[in-house]
Amino acid sequence: MNLRAVSLRALLILGLCHTGRRSLASSPGLRDQPKKIAVVGAGIGGTAAAYFLRQEFGKAVKIDVFEPGTIGGRLATVKIGDYEYETGGSVIHPLNLHMKHFIDKLGIPQRKDVPSKMAIFDGKEITFEESDWFIVNFLRLLWRYGFNFLRMHMWVESVLDKFMRIYQYQQFGYSFSSVERLLHAMGGDSFLTLANQTLEEAMLADGFSQVFLNDIVAPITRVNYGQSVRINGFVGAVSLAGADSGLWAVDGGNKRVCSGLLYHCKAELIPARVTSISVKVRPSKSGTTASFYELNYVGESGSAHSLYDIVVIATPLHLGKSDITFSGFSPPIPSHYPGRYHQTVSTLVRGLLNVSYLGTTEQPSEFMVSDVLTTDSKGSIINSLSSIDPVHIPAGYKRLPASQVKVWKVFSPQPLSQEQLKHMFLSWDSVSATPWLAYPAYRPPHRRTPPFILHDRLYYLNAVEWAASAMEMSAISARNVALLAHHRWNSQGAKIDQEDLHTRLRGEL
Ligand SMILES: Cc1cc2nc3c(=O)[nH]c(=O)nc-3n(C[C@H](O)[C@H](O)[C@H](O)COP(=O)(O)OP(=O)(O)OC[C@H]3O[C@@H](n4cnc5c(N)ncnc54)[C@H](O)[C@@H]3O)c2cc1C
Ligand SMILES: *[C@@H]1O[C@H](CO)[C@@H](O)[C@H](O)[C@H]1NC(C)=O
Ligand SMILES: *[C@@H]1O[C@H](CO)[C@@H](O)[C@H](O)[C@H]1NC(C)=O
Repeated sequence: MNLRAVSLRALLILGLCHTGRRSLASSPGLRDQPKKIAVVGAGIGGTAAAYFLRQEFGKAVKIDVFEPGTIGGRLATVKIGDYEYETGGSVIHPLNLHMKHFIDKLGIPQRKDVPSKMAIFDGKEITFEESDWFIVNFLRLLWRYGFNFLRMHMWVESVLDKFMRIYQYQQFGYSFSSVERLLHAMGGDSFLTLANQTLEEAMLADGFSQVFLNDIVAPITRVNYGQSVRINGFVGAVSLAGADSGLWAVDGGNKRVCSGLLYHCKAELIPARVTSISVKVRPSKSGTTASFYELNYVGESGSAHSLYDIVVIATPLHLGKSDITFSGFSPPIPSHYPGRYHQTVSTLVRGLLNVSYLGTTEQPSEFMVSDVLTTDSKGSIINSLSSIDPVHIPAGYKRLPASQVKVWKVFSPQPLSQEQLKHMFLSWDSVSATPWLAYPAYRPPHRRTPPFILHDRLYYLNAVEWAASAMEMSAISARNVALLAHHRWNSQGAKIDQEDLHTRLRGEL
């Protein structure tokens, strides 16, 4: 990490606090402000969108957020005994500046850190176990993989440096009309290529060894995205950054950010499922016509509909994720875009691990590994196995060795059978399985990612997941969509899809 990058990041972190004032000041009421905005979905994407829309459009606009399920979406917890545990999105990178900004703004602390220890399991035995000593790890990896390891850090670092540019662009109010344009603004053609080839292709081309990819990179993509090194190179880099140190989580559960943002921006939560969206044209006061979006929705008190000036869809438009009919649009908007979401079953087990399952001869009372990653071996039924901590760390909490009853989290593509559980655990008193359609099944090369702009004032936030799915990606997309909505409403084309921002903004900090 070079010094210039560090200071740029520090400036960005400070600078983010000033974001609110800029855009309100720069919208001199060229046109009446919108009266009603709808956001469909109250995950981190939808709630961040509501927050940024409030920032862009000011106090007067009414913001309704539709959510039939629990606030948080794929950020969710389950209760086991007296404690809550994350079952969906769990860790956040130290340079995820929007997530950091949210908790600072909401006054929620980070969860206390509990030291972790990683190992890699190849289906038969443990092939690598982290030592408590950095230098030991370093020498072991150097011995086995030469400089691949160091180079991986540099590789991820260089992607991250370009990725960080988005915060500066957004701070200056710039937005992008498609995922491709957003990627291009961050990292130029190299990001587009990265997103359209596999991580394996990208890393082999950069001189990494196949053995290193199989032994070290695949376990990381498997734990983060349940998939092999054939995911796209961009989400691959995001995944590898997820193996950095300094990862954090939100005290009390990540989903607290979602309810916090809704409350903070004074949006109204409508506990209903949106079933269809259509365009309606109405005569307006001035004698001309105005068009609105009509949302039909079903809640506990039956079905209803309302008109909105602007709509943001903040749920994936994919089979099994949502089922919204769009009518009256030309060209037509599909209910489901091509491609599917990958299943990851998150199984939380409170019990005694069968350490022999991992092919180790270590005594359970000595076995302190917290995260077991797995290689891409035939017949492997699990993606990872982790000893997890509650969302709030009680005073005096210490991670227990495997000889004690504790809570384990298993990620697997299929639900675990009783037989499989019996093999992995000697005993248990509680099992809770959540089958997630977790993130896209990444299969590059792809023709096109779905659009951010579905229609004039109708936006689609989760298109960004086809570059990479993560909390911060949804937050970045939320900010982008709020800026887009604002600039398009006020016909400020100069703030959309500007080329070469990196060089143009260089002198501005
Ligand atoms: C097991 C797992 C582990 C993960 N680990 C991490 C991690 O460690 N770090 C990380 O950054 N990311 C992680 N992710 C990814 C991360 O959780 C997601 O990228 C992120 O939470 C997506 O947020 P979202 O708001 O865009 O979508 P969602 O959270 O899916 O929110 C969409 C919401 O829309 C609602 N909805 C759907 N249809 C309708 C409708 N018709 N009307 C109204 N509402 C509707 C849904 O109920 C849902 O609440 C993980 C995901 C999973 C599943
Ligand atoms: C524990 O795992 C080992 C190795 O897979 C297996 O032979 C043994 O039967 C398991 N123990 C139990 C109680 O199932
Ligand atoms: C991705 O690559 C394929 C073929 O290699 C090409 O047809 C397609 O246009 C590319 N897509 C993008 C977005 O660059």
